[in-house]
Amino acid sequence: MKSYRASILWFAPHSEGAACARFEEDGLLVVGANAAGVQVVQAVGAWRELAQHYPGVPVEHLPGRIIAPGFVDMHIHYPQTNVIGSPADGLLPWLENHTFPEENRFAALEYSAQAATFFIAELLRNGVTTALAFATSHTESVNALFTQAQAEQMRLITGLCLMDRHAPAQLLNRSGVGTDATEQSLLDAETLIHRWHGQGRLGYAITPRFAPMSTQAQLRGAGDLAARYPDVWIQSHVAENKDEVAWARQLFPQSRSYLATYDDFGLMRQRAIYAHCIHFDDDDRALMRDTGAAAAVCPTSNLFLGSGFFDYVEADRVGYEYGLASDVGGGTSFSPFHTMLGAYYVGREGQTKQGLSLSPQHLWWQHTAGAARALGLDGVVGNLLPGCEADFVVLNPQATPLLARKTALAANLDELLFSMIVLGDDRLIERTVISQAI
Ligand code: GUN
Ligand code: ZN
Repeated sequence: MKSYRASILWFAPHSEGAACARFEEDGLLVVGANAAGVQVVQAVGAWRELAQHYPGVPVEHLPGRIIAPGFVDMHIHYPQTNVIGSPADGLLPWLENHTFPEENRFAALEYSAQAATFFIAELLRNGVTTALAFATSHTESVNALFTQAQAEQMRLITGLCLMDRHAPAQLLNRSGVGTDATEQSLLDAETLIHRWHGQGRLGYAITPRFAPMSTQAQLRGAGDLAARYPDVWIQSHVAENKDEVAWARQLFPQSRSYLATYDDFGLMRQRAIYAHCIHFDDDDRALMRDTGAAAAVCPTSNLFLGSGFFDYVEADRVGYEYGLASDVGGGTSFSPFHTMLGAYYVGREGQTKQGLSLSPQHLWWQHTAGAARALGLDGVVGNLLPGCEADFVVLNPQATPLLARKTALAANLDELLFSMIVLGDDRLIERTVISQAI
């Protein structure tokens, strides 16, 4: 066992109300192995009350620092690290002109491996300890990312990108010996599930890129896999951009809506994560709620590509799950602080409707405990309640002159969190600690 004495931020259990932050100015976090040999939180609370119960447990004292849950990024593309900051008229020209040429390069294992090493290091440098990530349509890219995440013992979920039409030929899933590309992509996905899902902290996600780039046969096959492997994740994109929505409607006219297309192929259930979810109607929102699917809200991407604004007011009114995501490289930053600030800007849009904007506690929750819950990992990551895996960040609120000046003025927790959301970036993350299996 080991303990850390610092200020500590965590969240009350969801049953006590969403997004309810707890903060202990002089706190103690005790971590130690559980029965399975995984380092988890044993206790969290006030130092003066807890310390006496853990005599002999070494204490690392971090004066002036804040320990907080590691961030959870619900949607990010590791092959798009180099694509950040590529302007385009909108999603579809951005994919064609910037994204696909870069993703082509991931057919080579060495290229994938060096990109994966950089990507995982960049996530950790920014305090992200759990990620649901896209790879490319090449098995090499998936193996490279899992291999690197495993080396870092990071909780990471990814999968083979399924795309068997409407993309450049080199990016379509490849055929095998005696199999066509569609069949082979599903066989490859199943092989990857067996190889990686549940290995340590790794998880597999069935990953149709988005409905317009899959045939009906591929979506059907993906749905079959989802039914046969119920604890595997599903990830895709939906209702991000008006041209994309029109295209999806044209290709799948028999479905009630773009989102309903996924439901029609058995791709909506718990652990199904849909990025963007902007151009929804109320039936779509109810479908999200009733199936237990969750939205990955990607504010910096939506602002950068001009896609639109996630409707927080309607999402809360209908009551479906969501959490925050960077969506690099449509998104502009690996930093959870930039993503939370983007979400704040987007939430202001809803304010005109309802006179509410997102509180700093709610923003932070959306990128930690809330995102974990949306992923079906409530009580596993994204929080520091006893039993949670011991993934956390050590924040240094003095990291820059302006942060030091502003955070020193904070009169309450909301002011402190807001200062860090608005002024924070990778410099605020002094250390990222990943739970180690013994
Ligand atoms: N829709 C289909 N593919 C993509 C992608 O790579 N990024 C984003 N933002 N949307 C998509
Ligand atoms: Zn995306």
